[in-house]
Amino acid sequence: MVEETVQQPIIDWYATHARDLPWRRPDASAWAVMVSEFMLQQTPVSRVLPVYENWMHDWPEPANLAAASPADAVRAWGRLGYPRRALRLHAAATAIAGRHGGRVPAEYDDLRALPGVGAYTAAAISVFAYRRRRAVLDTNVRRVLVRVMQGREFPANTVNSAEQRLAESLLPDDPARAAVWSVAAMELGALVCSAASPRCDRCPVRGQCAWRAAGFPAYDGPRRPTQTYAGTDRQCRGRLLGVLREAAEPVPRERLDEVWDDAEQRQRALDSLLADGLAERFDESRYRLPETH
Ligand code: ADE
Repeated sequence: MVEETVQQPIIDWYATHARDLPWRRPDASAWAVMVSEFMLQQTPVSRVLPVYENWMHDWPEPANLAAASPADAVRAWGRLGYPRRALRLHAAATAIAGRHGGRVPAEYDDLRALPGVGAYTAAAISVFAYRRRRAVLDTNVRRVLVRVMQGREFPANTVNSAEQRLAESLLPDDPARAAVWSVAAMELGALVCSAASPRCDRCPVRGQCAWRAAGFPAYDGPRRPTQTYAGTDRQCRGRLLGVLREAAEPVPRERLDEVWDDAEQRQRALDSLLADGLAERFDESRYRLPETH
C-alpha cells in the first residue's frame, strides 16, 4: 500500500456519514449483497430500496429465486430499468443452486463465471460479502480516485491496468479494512464528490485533493457515455414490458400498439424483447413475460 494519507480521513468520514443500507448491515448475507449489486448497477439507491426489500422477502436464498420463473423475476424487477439484469440474476441464482450448493461463491473467478457478473460485481461481492482483499472500482470510487490522486475530473470510460494498479496500491493491507475503505470511497463519491456538483466544503480530503489543488480543471477526454431515455428504444421497450408485466393474461398485439405510436420503433423494441428472452410469443397474436424456463 502507498503511504496512507487519504484512507483514514475517508474511513472516519464514512463512520459518521454513511447511509444505513440493508445490504451493508453486518447480518446481510452474500446473497443480499449480490442482489443489491445487481440492482445498483446504473440505478440509484432510492429506487432500489423498495424493490430490494420485496425481492429479499420473496426470495431470501438463491434457491428460492431459482425455483421461480424468469417471468416472476421480471415482474418483481418492476420499473428499475435495464430488466435484462433480472433475467441474469435469475440465471445466476439457478447456477448457484445447481453448481454451488445454493451458496453464493466467494472466489472471484467463480463469481465472474456467473451470468451477469462482470469484473465490478465479482469484486464487490467477494469484498463486501466475504472480506476478500480486492479493489472495487465502481463509477463513484473511480471518480474519487481520479480526482484526489490524479487531479482530473472524470476517469476514462473503461478501467485500464494503470487505474487497476493505482486502486490496488491504495488498498489497506488488512482485508476487512480494505473492504471498509472501498465502501467509504464509494459513499464519498455518491454523497460528496458527485459527478455534477461536488460538495468540497464537506469533503474530508479536500486538503489532499489533486483536482482541487489544480483549480478544478474541466474534463477534456473522450466523450462520456450519457444515458438518454425519452424517445429511445429503451423507453419503448420499457412501455411494452410494462404492459406485459401488469397483465394477468397473455397480451394481444393491439394492446402493445396502444402504448407507442411509432410502429417501426415498436416492432424493433418488441423484436429485441423477444430476442433477449424478456418476452415470449404465447400464440399467433399474443405475448407474455418469459413464463417458461
Ligand atoms: N454499498 C455497497 N455497494 C454499493 C453500491 N454499488 N452502491 C451503493 N452502495 C453500496
